[in-house]
Amino acid sequence: MSPDPTRIRAFVALDLPDAVRAGIDSWGAAELGDEALRPVAVEKLHLTLCFLGHIPAADVERAARIVAAVGPRPVPVTFRAEPVAKPRGRPRLFALDADSPAAVALQEELARELAEAGVYEPDQRPFWPHLTVARVRSETGKRRPRRVRTRPGALPAALVHTFDSVRIALYRSNLRPGGAQYVPLANLDLPPTG
Ligand code: 2AM
Repeated sequence: MSPDPTRIRAFVALDLPDAVRAGIDSWGAAELGDEALRPVAVEKLHLTLCFLGHIPAADVERAARIVAAVGPRPVPVTFRAEPVAKPRGRPRLFALDADSPAAVALQEELARELAEAGVYEPDQRPFWPHLTVARVRSETGKRRPRRVRTRPGALPAALVHTFDSVRIALYRSNLRPGGAQYVPLANLDLPPTG
């Protein structure tokens, strides 16, 4: 099915400091080597707040205004050392659990405002703050994920510290055969803690 050109796949996410992304990328080079895994490229590592889905192009401006109008505040995040497999038995993805009450509060606020503006249908499941670090390739010709023989080990201690998110961004996601391309449409820089 060819994509509807009047709709745009969009999501709102938190961007992390470059040094944190680089650290995760180095860890991933050692720990995400199983051939069934497709590690997320360093420039695409982000913490999704609200996945808007395919919204009419005309709604993008409204979503961008909401993102730009969020009150800037520090959003500290701490990753748990042990990566999480989802679902556990036959995982489709591996992610880092993010401990961040500020991200949870921000997500609630954004979800409410985006829903009131009619550009977001809140997820029925509770928000799970996480950073997807790898997706699992499907079995040939099937949707079932391949078996992952070597699961990723823990993050090094140097990455298990609290850091401040750098910005909130509204992204357009262009689905391509080689993987999605993310294009920022609106940004709001966040101040550091203290
Ligand atoms: P993920 O990282 O947990 O996979 C862009 O595709 C971002 O939106 C991804 O980071 C992805 O989250 C999230 N996303 C994609 N499809 C989604 C869906 N159906 N529901 C919620 N989030 C989704």
